[in-house]
Amino acid sequence: MNIVETSGLSKTYRSGLFKRSIVHALTEVSLSVRKGEIFGLLGPNGAGKTTFVKILLSIVHPTQGEATVAGEKLGSPSIRERSGYLPENHRYPAFLTGLQTLIFFGSLNGMRGKALADRAHQLLELVGLQDWKKVKIKRYSKGMLQRLGLAQALLNDPDLLFLDEPTDGVDPVGRKEIRDLLTSLRNQDKTIFLNSHLLSEVEMISDRVAILNKGKVLKIGTIAELTSKQIEYELLLDRSLDDSIIEKLRPHLLSLNVEGKKLVIAVETNVELNTSIDILRSKGILIESMAQKRTTLEDSFIDLIQREATS
Ligand SMILES: Nc1ncnc2c1ncn2[C@@H]1O[C@H](COP(=O)(O)OP(=O)(O)O)[C@@H](O)[C@H]1O
Ligand SMILES: [Mg+2]
Repeated sequence: MNIVETSGLSKTYRSGLFKRSIVHALTEVSLSVRKGEIFGLLGPNGAGKTTFVKILLSIVHPTQGEATVAGEKLGSPSIRERSGYLPENHRYPAFLTGLQTLIFFGSLNGMRGKALADRAHQLLELVGLQDWKKVKIKRYSKGMLQRLGLAQALLNDPDLLFLDEPTDGVDPVGRKEIRDLLTSLRNQDKTIFLNSHLLSEVEMISDRVAILNKGKVLKIGTIAELTSKQIEYELLLDRSLDDSIIEKLRPHLLSLNVEGKKLVIAVETNVELNTSIDILRSKGILIESMAQKRTTLEDSFIDLIQREATS
């Protein structure tokens, strides 16, 4: 079942003097998020990621298009009741402690008394801040603030979490902690919608990804689907190749690069890989080592954005 479904969502902002400057923040974005997955919306700054999430939560109204969240049309109050939201660059009053922050936000949610206090303590433990709950948040690191933000987003026990740049500005250890937390939440049947301009982060935890650039979706799929168009291998040979062998190899390969004894080839399947190995061996060449180089989402992303820029 799809928990988020959008069809042709577009958003145009008008700003500046007499609202004459027009920004097409989103253009006909159609995508769906399945229940229980971590979905990554990936794109450079200004791509429209924040606008997209704000539309789903009715903070911003779309210029065109439709969407449902948890089966409800945009604007339905039950969407916010069932969602948690970690806004980007959120700021909490620095004089509050972690515990006070959660109590404050919980009371805004209509939670009260012992139920709220219990929930706040339980969430502080979940995000690993139990020892810091009585410390003022001005002493928290960026990673701790983001974990507190996650706890805040979880106060109403939502089915669906919208996280806008949850690891931005967080150090590597803090990032790993947040990733682990998100994976464990997914395993508790929550759906996580993650905005990020950080490819490697998204790549490590998302089940599916949409690549957004200048308001348009360029691709949607699993990481494997977005990256497995070609497989690269790096072979170390016992000698450098002469031109006649290179010409024999070339028709079987998507690309070929020779650097001394190092040969880097790209193939579609391992059939072409084996053909290449056969050709090398038939010329008496020894393969000293071979390693598969994975095409990362980053390669695929850069490739897509560059193609978009030149088309
Ligand atoms: N309130 C606004 N008024 C005018 N332009 C805006 C507003 N909010 C966002 N934009 C513009 O819309 C585009 C998309 O912004 P945003 O959704 O914040 O992208 P992202 O989150 O991917 O960085 C950007 O060009 C941004 O400057
Ligand atoms: Mg943003």
